[in-house]
Amino acid sequence: MTHQHLSTRVVHAGEERVKPHHALTTPIVQTSTFTFENTRDLVDFQEAKLWGEQNGREEYGRYGNPTVAATEAKLADLDSGEAACLFSSGMAAVTSTLLSLLSAGDHVVLTDDSYRRTRQFVTKFLARFGVTATQVPMGNYEALEAAIQPNTKVIFSESPTNPYVRVLDLKKLVAIAQKHTVKTVVDSTFATPINQRPLEFGVDFVVHSATKYLGGHNDLLAGVVVCSNYLMGAIKETQAMLGDVSDPHPAYLLLRGLKTLELRVQRQNQTAEKTAHFLVKHPAVRRVYYPGLVSHPDYEVAVAQMSGFGGVVSFELEADLEGTGRFIDQLQIPYIGPSLGGVETLVGQVAQMTYYEFSPEERAEIGISDSLIRLAVGIESVDDLLADLAQALDKAFHTEMLFQTVGDDAQARPVVMYRP
Ligand SMILES: Cc1ncc(COP(=O)(O)O)c(C=O)c1O
Repeated sequence: MTHQHLSTRVVHAGEERVKPHHALTTPIVQTSTFTFENTRDLVDFQEAKLWGEQNGREEYGRYGNPTVAATEAKLADLDSGEAACLFSSGMAAVTSTLLSLLSAGDHVVLTDDSYRRTRQFVTKFLARFGVTATQVPMGNYEALEAAIQPNTKVIFSESPTNPYVRVLDLKKLVAIAQKHTVKTVVDSTFATPINQRPLEFGVDFVVHSATKYLGGHNDLLAGVVVCSNYLMGAIKETQAMLGDVSDPHPAYLLLRGLKTLELRVQRQNQTAEKTAHFLVKHPAVRRVYYPGLVSHPDYEVAVAQMSGFGGVVSFELEADLEGTGRFIDQLQIPYIGPSLGGVETLVGQVAQMTYYEFSPEERAEIGISDSLIRLAVGIESVDDLLADLAQALDKAFHTEMLFQTVGDDAQARPVVMYRP
C-alpha cells in the first residue's frame, strides 16, 4: 500500500488488522507474566531469543507487552522511525535514553531554554557519574559547534522549547553533529509528529513526553523514544535494567488518545495561531512568543521545517507579578496547571508555576519576567477562548487602573491606558 496520510496512520498504524476475539480495539493485556505450555515451548522461545527473534510472544512484563508493543509500533510509524520504546513518563524517556548513550568521561552539549528537569539531569545528576555538560544558547549554532569536545557523545536539544517556543534548525543541528560524529537527541514534545518529524532530518533519537499532546487528555503519564532498530537495542537493554516501563493500561489510554492526535493538533495549531495574533494587537500585552508570528526569531525555520506552529503561546503583560496573577484569576475557561497538550486549555504564570523557588534576581538572570504567561490551548472553541482572554484582560487592567489611581501614593498612575 502507498504510504498513507498521517490522519489514517494515527488510527490504524501499528495495530493488528485482526485482533483477539475480533475486537475492533486493541485489548489491554493486563498481565505481568506470560506462561509457556510446556518445556518444549519454553526452549523454543529461548532458542529464538538467542537468534534475536521474538517468536511472536512475550515473556515478562518488563520486557514487553502486546498493548505496549502496539502503541510503540504506532508511535514509531508516526515519527518515521523503525522502532519506539515506551516509558512510564517523559522524564523516564529522556533519562534512559541519555543513560544508554553516555559513560563516565563523556560530554554532552545541551541547548538552554529546554525543560528544566532535563537540564537538571544533564548538568547536575549526570555530573555525579563523571559526565560533563556544556549549555549553549538556543539558536546560536556557532556556540553549539564550538562547545563540541573530543569526548562529546551527544547533543541534546528541544524544539519547540519551553517557555519561549524557540525552534531549533534541525538541518543545521544534524550537519554539525555529523561533522563531529556526535549523536543527536531532540525532545519534540511541543511539536508532535503532526507538526515536525526530526528523524526525517537525520536526527538520531526523538523523544516525547507522551503525557502531553500524544496522550492528549491529561489523564496519563508516558514518554517515548523513537529511532532506528540498530540504535534501539541499547535503549531496550537500559530499560530492561532500569525498569521504567509503561504499564498496559496507560499504554492503552495513549493508543486511544493517539487516534485523534491529528484532529486535536490541527485544532490546537489554529487556535494558538489566532490567539497569538489577538494578543499581539492587545495594548496590555507587552510581547508574544509564538513561532507563527513573523516577529519570532525562528519564524523562518519554523515555516521551513514544521507543518504547524503548535498549541503553546507565551506572552508577557504590561503588569507586575501580582497584576499578572489578577489577569489569570479572571480567566474562566483555562485551568491553572503545569502541563500542556490536552483537550483542556491550561495556563500558568511561569514565575509562580515553574520558578517559584527562584529569587526575582535569579529569574531575571535567566530571563523569566514576572509577567510571563504560558498558555497551552486545548480544543475548545477559539471564539470562546478569545472572548475569555479579552474579558480577563479588560477586568484585570481596569482593576489595576482603579487600584493605582485611588491609591494614597500621589505618584501612582494607571499602567495601561487602553480602557477609558
Ligand atoms: C518538553 C518536555 N519534555 C519532557 C517533559 C517531561 O515529561 P513527563 O512529565 O511526562 O515526565 C516535559 C514535561 O513537562 C516537557 O514539557
